[in-house]
Amino acid sequence: MNAVFPGSFDPVTSGHMDVLTRAARIFDHVTVTVMHNARKQGRHLFTLEERLATLHEATAHLPNVSVDSFSGLLVDYMRQQQKGIIIRGLRAVSDYEYELQIAHLNRQIGEVETVFIMAATRWSFVSSTMVKEIASYGGDISEMVPRASAAALRRMFADVYAEREEGRGQKAEG
Ligand code: PNS
Repeated sequence: MNAVFPGSFDPVTSGHMDVLTRAARIFDHVTVTVMHNARKQGRHLFTLEERLATLHEATAHLPNVSVDSFSGLLVDYMRQQQKGIIIRGLRAVSDYEYELQIAHLNRQIGEVETVFIMAATRWSFVSSTMVKEIASYGGDISEMVPRASAAALRRMFADVYAEREEGRGQKAEG
């Protein structure tokens, strides 16, 4: 059975990687699909190309995982590509209500089933939004994201990280 793990992945986090790794153990093949909407491009920190490159790097060690992107309704993608099951990760009860609504709608409009995979509790507080917030102040996000995302965030906020490191160096000297 094949599955699709859809999302914005702006950027992919350790929580996403945990869910993906668990899914890859259960399903024959998992496609991680960046769902993008050209009209919403400005709302994302990373371009589609950057998100795809990060995902390619972060999933290179998983032989039955591939990376793709799609613009449109998820159910159309699932149908066009005969992709099987949708995977969504649940971190906490707070995710459930939103995810339940989407899963029901996707079944209603596209007859596609969703399987939920619980992320490990250590990732329950990690989200792409929070990681971006921490990185924008030069904070340490190395545990919360795969190495490829950490590198992309450090490049994006290079001046903030440089300033912080400079400040730390000066403190050590003084
Ligand atoms: O990582 P996210 O932002 O939680 O992912 C949400 C995503 C991209 C999977 C969802 O918004 C989606 O499927 N978008 C594609 C458009 C669509 O099919 N919308 C209908 C859902 S009812």
